[in-house]
Amino acid sequence: MQYELAPSILSADFSILGQQVNFLEEQGVKWLHIDVMDGNFVPNISLGLPVIASIRKVSGMFFDVHLMIDDPIRYIGDFAKSGADLITFHVEAASDPAAVIRAIRASGKKVGISIKPKTPVSAIEPYLADVDMVLVMTVEPGFGGQSYMIECEKKVTELRQILTERDLPADIEVDGGIAADTIERSIASGANIFVAGSATFKGDIGANVRMFYDAFEKFGK
Ligand code: DX5
Ligand code: ZN
Repeated sequence: MQYELAPSILSADFSILGQQVNFLEEQGVKWLHIDVMDGNFVPNISLGLPVIASIRKVSGMFFDVHLMIDDPIRYIGDFAKSGADLITFHVEAASDPAAVIRAIRASGKKVGISIKPKTPVSAIEPYLADVDMVLVMTVEPGFGGQSYMIECEKKVTELRQILTERDLPADIEVDGGIAADTIERSIASGANIFVAGSATFKGDIGANVRMFYDAFEKFGK
């Protein structure tokens, strides 16, 4: 299994965002998780198109854009242009998920679909063959620094089983509360892309990244 760390810039120091992104890249981190919030789908507002376009200019990382916005189809073209490599939307936010998937594909970007903690796997089952990644939220979306919800692991395991049975290549990403005390159990549950905001940016970023890579190695990266 190919494991990747996807640091969430929600916990970065925005006054030196470009430097922090470059530092991660120097540590060998390939993915960057970018949380977009609209104050409607989630009770918080984070960042948007100009910020993504700015860091696109200074980074060659894989931009994993997590849209926590209502009616995401309205903005797919804009996020594609801003420099996203993969665009993930929430199934709960879309009236026609298949149309959003088609719009992301048409923009030339990779497609992710996400479920909140209370949304069952059955809500995204019809789309599994059409996406590159499934994002299983392990906290209620909206804020960094929350506690990992262990009960979400059974959905990750269920999904991994379905993907294996159907021989589908989609990645499984987990997001929320991934840190030193949860990374190993999260790997064991079946995920392979790990978002970490506070556990990447709080304290010594280099040491934090190494901690995640050590865990990946333990499971045979
Ligand atoms: C929350 C966001 C996460 C957030 C994770 O809605 O989707 O990506 O940054 O933060 P941590 O890793 O601190 O739980
Ligand atoms: Zn996120």
